[in-house]
Amino acid sequence: MTIQEMKEAVCSWAKQSYAEKLFAGTSGNLSMYDQERGVMVITPTSVAYELIAPEDMVVMKLDGQVLEGSYRPSSEWRMHGAVYAAKPEVGALIHTHSPYATAFAVTHKNIPTILIEMVPFLGGDVPLARFAMPGTAAVGEEAVKVLKERTGCLLANHGVLTVGKDLAQAHLRAVYVEDAAKICALAMGVGEIHTMSDEQIAAMKG
Ligand code: 13P
Repeated sequence: MTIQEMKEAVCSWAKQSYAEKLFAGTSGNLSMYDQERGVMVITPTSVAYELIAPEDMVVMKLDGQVLEGSYRPSSEWRMHGAVYAAKPEVGALIHTHSPYATAFAVTHKNIPTILIEMVPFLGGDVPLARFAMPGTAAVGEEAVKVLKERTGCLLANHGVLTVGKDLAQAHLRAVYVEDAAKICALAMGVGEIHTMSDEQIAAMKG
């Protein structure tokens, strides 16, 4: 993929995620990382999603060196960098504030494995990463600790982080995290929830 194609993909998935209400206001951010070039393309900080264009995406190194772009990178660029540095299989990352999942993050509850889709798409439940100060690499480092055999997690008092080999995969996982959280919250209002058993989860994983 060329850098231009990466900018177009990051911009287009950002707009789609905003239209789907995975982000509110200018919150949330997403990126792609090219391991071979050592280059990350990330959304700019605090720019309205309706207004962003591919040329506004920031091209940078994981150490903070900006190579292209007139805006400042997302305030969470260190979080993105920490995940890419620790997980070489990851090529894209989305950080959302989707409301149902973030409700679990602010109540410090994981989202239990209540739906079959959670097994193939998310690896099981959606764990909670410990709180870390926004804007620091520690946000990503705490996420990495709980992203073992999982593709998404909650960030305490903050939001959601999902990873993938590309943005299509990271985005789909963010959608499934929000869907699971919504259904779980609704189910908890209906009655007692029944999580899938370890045997059922293991059988689905094959
Ligand atoms: P940006 O800095 O990317 O606009 O996002 C803020 C945010 O969502 C912090 O979690």
